[in-house]
Amino acid sequence: MKITVVGAGAVGATSADNIARKELASELVLLDIKEGIAEGKALDMTQTAALFGFDTRITGSTNDYSKTANSDVVVITSGLPRKPGMTREELIGTNASIVKGVTENLLKYSPNAIIIVVSNPMDTMTYLTLTTSGVPKERIIGMGGILDSARFKCYLSQTLGCSPNDLNAIVVGGHGDTTMIPLIRYATWNSVPVTEFLSEEQQQKIVADTMVGGATLTKLLGTSAWYAPGAAVAALVESIVRDEKRLFSCSVSVNGEYGQSDICLGVPVIIGKNGWEKIVDYKLNEQEQATFSKSANAVRNMNDVLKTL
Ligand code: LAC
Repeated sequence: MKITVVGAGAVGATSADNIARKELASELVLLDIKEGIAEGKALDMTQTAALFGFDTRITGSTNDYSKTANSDVVVITSGLPRKPGMTREELIGTNASIVKGVTENLLKYSPNAIIIVVSNPMDTMTYLTLTTSGVPKERIIGMGGILDSARFKCYLSQTLGCSPNDLNAIVVGGHGDTTMIPLIRYATWNSVPVTEFLSEEQQQKIVADTMVGGATLTKLLGTSAWYAPGAAVAALVESIVRDEKRLFSCSVSVNGEYGQSDICLGVPVIIGKNGWEKIVDYKLNEQEQATFSKSANAVRNMNDVLKTL
């Protein structure tokens, strides 16, 4: 198994670090446009192998895509991260051309790879990849909902005073501060609805905190987060390479599910060795469906910006 991570910034490097530690690949390539950064971080990670006990060969490359040849999975984290006060959507102008160029270069050498898109605005970058690459839709997966669901569980566990491992909770819709939809009605604490234990006010606060989960970190860090995004990428890669068939929320091309089409949006999907294998299309209540449609409209407006670039 060969995996490439493009972008050796904080998110890309942390993703690569987790992929190596979990031994998800025999070969891992980290690529960046900045001279020496990917080689340096790859070597630094390689020097942890004897300490963590993994056996993945990690190499770095300054923009030489031939090194990524025959990758099974590629992860695109390239582009600018957010600065405090910025929305993910404001990055579209710069990141669209970067993501398009990176995808073209990757596909020259790995035409059969499964593509994981992390760059923001993620749903639109996933849609861009879908509409410009010619890659079958099942092999294009936007990483957002897994991360947002992990943040949702974090805030739920803090309020409930319980282990996040006993929680089941999912965030669907867009990966944006105003477009994500933490489905609290479906969240359970070991099968018991969390709504049994939380006041209306507590529920609203958890949902609101989840939605700005990334923005809160950007404010604290001065740039976007990397530990949870890197862990979320690794969980997604793991489900692909081990064919785990995990049910995650990912941004994928919907075709009528949740009343939407011609768009990539966060929906529950089964992830396995072929990419995303099946969308789980369950019935939202009227209010949730209305919120979902609103989220889709906002993402669609962002997708329309692509035509003007
Ligand atoms: C975040 C970025 C990765 O939510 O979108 O932290």
